[in-house]
Amino acid sequence: MPNSRILRSPSGIKDVLLVLSTISILYLLLHHHHHHHLQHPIFTHLLRKPPTPSSTPTSPLSLHHILFSIASSSSSLPRRLPYLLLWSHPNTTLTYLFLDSPTTNHTPFPTIISSPTTHFPYTFRHGLRSAIRVARIVKETLILNLTTQSQIKWYVFGDDDTVFFTDNLLRTLSKYDHNEWYYIGSNSESYEQNEFYSFDMAFGGGGFALSASLARVLARVLDSCLMRYPHLYGSDARVFSCLTELGVGLTHEPGFHQVDVRGDLFGMLSAHPLSPLVSLHHLDGVEPIFPGMNRTQALGHLFKAVTVDPARILQQTVCYDRSNSLTVSVAWGYTVQVFEGNQLLPDLISLQRTFRPWRRSKSVSSHYMFNTRDHPSDPCKRPIVFFLESVVSDTNRVWTDYTKHSSGNCLRTTSIQRLERIRVSSQKLNYDIRQVKAPHRQCCDILPSFNKTMSLESTISEGGLNELLGTWGLLG
Ligand SMILES: *[C@@H]1O[C@H](CO)[C@@H](O)[C@H](O)[C@H]1NC(C)=O
Ligand SMILES: *[C@@H]1O[C@H](CO)[C@@H](O)[C@H](O)[C@H]1NC(C)=O
Ligand SMILES: *[C@@H]1O[C@H](CO)[C@@H](O)[C@H](O)[C@H]1NC(C)=O
Ligand SMILES: *[C@@H]1O[C@H](CO)[C@@H](O)[C@H](O)[C@H]1NC(C)=O
Repeated sequence: MPNSRILRSPSGIKDVLLVLSTISILYLLLHHHHHHHLQHPIFTHLLRKPPTPSSTPTSPLSLHHILFSIASSSSSLPRRLPYLLLWSHPNTTLTYLFLDSPTTNHTPFPTIISSPTTHFPYTFRHGLRSAIRVARIVKETLILNLTTQSQIKWYVFGDDDTVFFTDNLLRTLSKYDHNEWYYIGSNSESYEQNEFYSFDMAFGGGGFALSASLARVLARVLDSCLMRYPHLYGSDARVFSCLTELGVGLTHEPGFHQVDVRGDLFGMLSAHPLSPLVSLHHLDGVEPIFPGMNRTQALGHLFKAVTVDPARILQQTVCYDRSNSLTVSVAWGYTVQVFEGNQLLPDLISLQRTFRPWRRSKSVSSHYMFNTRDHPSDPCKRPIVFFLESVVSDTNRVWTDYTKHSSGNCLRTTSIQRLERIRVSSQKLNYDIRQVKAPHRQCCDILPSFNKTMSLESTISEGGLNELLGTWGLLG
C-alpha cells in the first residue's frame, strides 16, 4: 500500500518500493474499477500527501502528549465513573468522555455528545448500532480543534470500563516514534474471539493507541470507510478494517488486556508477562481482585502499589529457599504464593486456570492465547496465597506487605506452618528506554530464617541470579 513512509526511504530500497507501490496503485485502480460506486479518497489523498518531516530527538514522552478518548454512555457512566477516577484526573490526564446523550452526572472530565449516526448502515444481526458512534470517536476527537492539539503525539481510545496504567502506557509508547504510523494494542485472550474477529485486531476494551500522524489520516477517511463495513459487529472491527485499508497492521503490546474471561482473575494477574501492565478491562465481569472487598475498593487497593512503583506492578519474580525447599512467586503489589518443593520457572509463568471462558456456552472447550495450567480444586494442593496488605516507601525503596489468605486446614511443611506475612523489599524501578525494549525478569532473595514473617528482597544484582543458579547446582 502506498503511504508516506515510501517517500522518505533511503534511496537503496527506494526503487524496490517504487515498483511495489506501482503494483499497489495498479491493484487499486483495478479494485476501483470493480467497485466504481465506492469512493477511495484514502488513496488519492495519500498519494498527494507530502512527506512528514523526519523526526528529530524531542522531549521525552509525557502525559500531556497523550489524549484519552473514552467511549461511554449516559446509562453506563454512573457505574463506570469510579473506574475512570482511579486512573484519570483532570489535572494530569487529558481525558474526553464521549456520550450518546447528555448526562445529569457530574464528571470532572470534558464531555462530548457524539453526533447522530443514523445515515450509516448497520446490518450485524442483534448487534448494537452504537458501534458506529464509538468508531467515529476517532474522528470526533481529531476535530475537537483544541488549542493544545498540536502537542498531542498519541491518541488513546478506551471504554469507560477500561482501567489504564498511565505511567506504563507512557513507557510502552515511548518505544515508538509518533511521527510514523502506529496502531498499538492487543488482541483477545480468547482464541475463539480472535478467530471470529481477527488475530490482528486491537480489541477496543483493552484500549489502543494511534500515533498522531496515523490518527489524523484515519479521521479524514473514516466516514467514507465506515460505509463499507455495515456487516461488522463492533467499533474496534471497524477501526481495524479502516486501518487495514491504510496499509497499517497492529503492533502487539502484551500489556493491554481486553480481559475476555470471567470469574477469578488471580491466575492471570499473578503471572503477568514481562511487559509493563498497561490496561485492564471488563472488571465488572470478574470477581473483585482482592478478597473481602468490592470491585472499586479492590482496584483502589491495587493502585496503592501502582502509585508508588507503577513499572513494577504485577511483575513476577521467583525466589527459592533451598534449606526449606520452598518456591516463592511474587506478583508485585498484588500477591505472593508459597509452593512446597522446587517449582520450575517456566511452569510458574504459565497461568493457573482460576478463570472461565468469556462465552458462557458450555458446549465447546475454550482455548486461550497463552499457556495455562491446572488450578487444583483441593486447596491443600495449591500454594499458600498471600495478598497485598500495605505499601510503605521512601525516596527509592518500597516495602510491600502481604498477609495470608486462609485456604483450608492443610498439613504443611513445618517451616511454613507459622507463616502469616511476607514482606517484599524492592528498589523503585526507573526503567530507561533500553530496559523497556528488552525487558528482563528481576531476581529475588529470601532473607535467612523466618517464623511468622518471611522477608524477600527483589534485586537486579548478580547476587540474586547466583542464588537462583546455585539452587539448581549450576554454579560450582
Ligand atoms: C488540580 O488543580 C487545581 C487547580 O490548579 C487545584 O486546586 C487542585 O488542588 C488540583 N487537584 C489535585 C488533586 O492535584
Ligand atoms: C474543527 O474545525 C473543523 C475545520 O475547520 C470543523 O469542520 C469542525 O467542525 C471543528 N470542530 C469543532 C468541534 O468545532
Ligand atoms: C465499595 O466499598 C466502598 C467502601 O466501603 C463504598 O464506598 C462503595 O460504595 C462500595 N461500592 C459498591 C458498588 O458497593
Ligand atoms: C521462632 O519463634 C519461636 C517461638 O516464638 C522461637 O523459639 C524461635 O527462636 C523463633 N525462630 C526464629 C528463627 O526467629
